[in-house]
Amino acid sequence: MIKNFIAEIILNEEVAEKVFRLTVDAPELAEQARAGQFVQVKISDDFTLRRPLGIASTAGGHVKIFYRAVGRGTEVLSRQRAGERLEILGSLGNGFTPRDGKILLVGGGMGLAPLLCAAEKFSTDVLMGGRTSNEVTFWQKEFRPHAEEIFVTTDDGSVGKYGFVTDALPEILSAKNYAAVFTCGPEIMMRGVARLAREKNLPCEVSFEKRMACGLGACLSCSIDTAKGRRKVCKDGPIFNADEVFDYD
Ligand SMILES: Cc1cc2nc3c(=O)[nH]c(=O)nc-3n(C[C@H](O)[C@H](O)[C@H](O)COP(=O)(O)OP(=O)(O)OC[C@H]3O[C@@H](n4cnc5c(N)ncnc54)[C@H](O)[C@@H]3O)c2cc1C
Ligand code: FES
Repeated sequence: MIKNFIAEIILNEEVAEKVFRLTVDAPELAEQARAGQFVQVKISDDFTLRRPLGIASTAGGHVKIFYRAVGRGTEVLSRQRAGERLEILGSLGNGFTPRDGKILLVGGGMGLAPLLCAAEKFSTDVLMGGRTSNEVTFWQKEFRPHAEEIFVTTDDGSVGKYGFVTDALPEILSAKNYAAVFTCGPEIMMRGVARLAREKNLPCEVSFEKRMACGLGACLSCSIDTAKGRRKVCKDGPIFNADEVFDYD
């Protein structure tokens, strides 16, 4: 059930340059949330619109969120301290489809946030990419207790394989029998991942981001065109079957 939770901040710490890990005490939200869902966070009374952020962990009755401070809202959020309270609307959207068998998670940058929740709940390997080691080192630590194998690529080769996740993916998909691929990150990356999964006849689910207002399916600001017609990312997504949102021509 979607509710407005008042949650106490346990920790709000910088884990990499401008990237923060926010932990809030929210047992009821943690209990109901599915991997791939998101919340709308009220930053303060100065902000009319809430900000959508993915749920990255629900362990121990705490909800964890990873966010990059990119604008005024996330900047103000980054200055909030333990003990303060936040209004959080959730859990929103549809979530990834649970599967029998191992799932390969493929994420780039902050796209790894919702995939961490999938690693916590399902049997997974993860392929993560970033521009440099700073962008992936903290993610390696976060995924280590959950994912069986971790593959890493960086654009500059400072850690893992040199190149993009799509360069490393064909070999990984050939080495094991995965039940599905879940991906989140820049759209161009997800399209490449979806294409490679399709070549292997693997189901692929993608997590879409669109600027949002209500987050509840009421305002239409997050509509996209799909193979099934107009869809709202906040309500019909943010998780879509790749074939519904991408054509590969
Ligand atoms: C379903 C969903 C889940 C998300 N999960 C996360 C997450 O787990 N971690 C995280 O760091 N971010 C996530 N985002 C993006 C996050 O909502 C935006 O970065 C945030 O709202 C920016 O707010 P702001 O006030 O700081 O920036 P603004 O001042 O509003 O904008 C600053 C910059 O961020 C861009 N931006 C704003 N909103 C979005 C958006 N929805 N998608 C892409 N770019 C945007 C703007 O174009 C602008 O360049 C998610 C977005 C959606 C829709
Ligand atoms: S944000 Fe209002 S319909 Fe999606």
